[in-house]
Amino acid sequence: MSTRQAGQDLDTSKAHSARMYDYFLGGKDHFEIDKEAALVAAQAHPGIYVTARENRAFMHRATRALAQEHGIRQWLDIGTGIPTEPNLHQVAQSVVPDAHVVYADNDPLVLKYAERLMRSTTQGRTAYVQADVTDPDALMSAVEDSGVLDFDRPIALSLNALMHFITDPHDPYAIVRRLLDPLPAGSALAMNHCTPDFDPVTWNKVAEVYTKSGSPVQFRSHSDVRRFFDGLDLVEPGICCCHRWRPATPAAGEPEIEDAQISLLAGVGIKR
Ligand SMILES: C[S@@+](CC[C@H](N)C(=O)[O-])C[C@H]1O[C@@H](n2cnc3c(N)ncnc32)[C@H](O)[C@@H]1O
Repeated sequence: MSTRQAGQDLDTSKAHSARMYDYFLGGKDHFEIDKEAALVAAQAHPGIYVTARENRAFMHRATRALAQEHGIRQWLDIGTGIPTEPNLHQVAQSVVPDAHVVYADNDPLVLKYAERLMRSTTQGRTAYVQADVTDPDALMSAVEDSGVLDFDRPIALSLNALMHFITDPHDPYAIVRRLLDPLPAGSALAMNHCTPDFDPVTWNKVAEVYTKSGSPVQFRSHSDVRRFFDGLDLVEPGICCCHRWRPATPAAGEPEIEDAQISLLAGVGIKR
C-alpha cells in the first residue's frame, strides 16, 4: 500500500466533479456546495442518478472482461473518484487475486479516503497517486515511482468518466497518447465519455451546470470519442452507449433504458 500527494488543498469554495458524482451515487463524501450543484444538474437531467450507476456498472464489466478475456493483471485507473465499493481493484481481484492497481485523481478529498482503495488482497497490490491528468509526464512519473506496475507487462488504462473534464485546450488526445505510449503491446484502454449525441438540449444544459459550478466539461460526439482509440483494436461491441456494452441480463419487468438517458459512450481497445 502506498499513497503520494501532489500538495493540493481541498477547495470547498466551489463544487467538484468527484463530490457531485459521490452525491449522485448516494455517497456521503461531499459538501453542501457539491450537493447544490448536483441538484441543479439533476434539474436539467433527472435521470442523472441512473447515468452515474450505469457508468459504474460499465467499469465493473470492462474490468472483468479485460481480466477474463485479455489476460490483464495490472490497471492504471485515472480519475478514480471517491471510493465506492466495489472499487476497480476489488472487481479485478475477484477474478485475479494478484491484480495490481494504481489509482490517480486530482481531488484532495479522494486522497483523504485513499486508504479505502488500499484494502487489497494479500497477493495483489494497490497504490494511490494524487496527480492531474493534464500533466501526464508528472502523473506517469509518480505512477512509475509507486513501483506497483510492471511496464514490461500489459496494463489496462482506465479513464472512466474522466476525459469529458478535459477540454480541447488541454489537448486530450495528446494526453491519452502520452499515457498509452509507455504501455506494451497487449495493454488496453477502457473509457466511458459523456456525449450530447442522443439528446443535445439536455446534455448541453448539464454541461453548462458543470462548467458554471467550477468543473468545465466538454461532452464529445461518437466520432470524437472514437479518436481516443485510434491505433487500438476495439473489442466487441465497439463504442456504444455504456449500458449496451455487454449488458447484464435485465431483471424481468425492468424497463428498457434509453441511450438519451445515459449519454455515456463506452469502449475498450487493445494496443497492438
Ligand atoms: C465522474 S468521476 C468518475 C469516477 C470513476 N472513474 C467512475 O467512473 O466511477 C470523475 C473523476 O475525475 C476526476 N478528475 C477530474 N479532472 C481531473 C484531472 N484533471 N486529473 C485527474 N482527475 C480528474 C475527479 O476528481 C473525479 O474523481
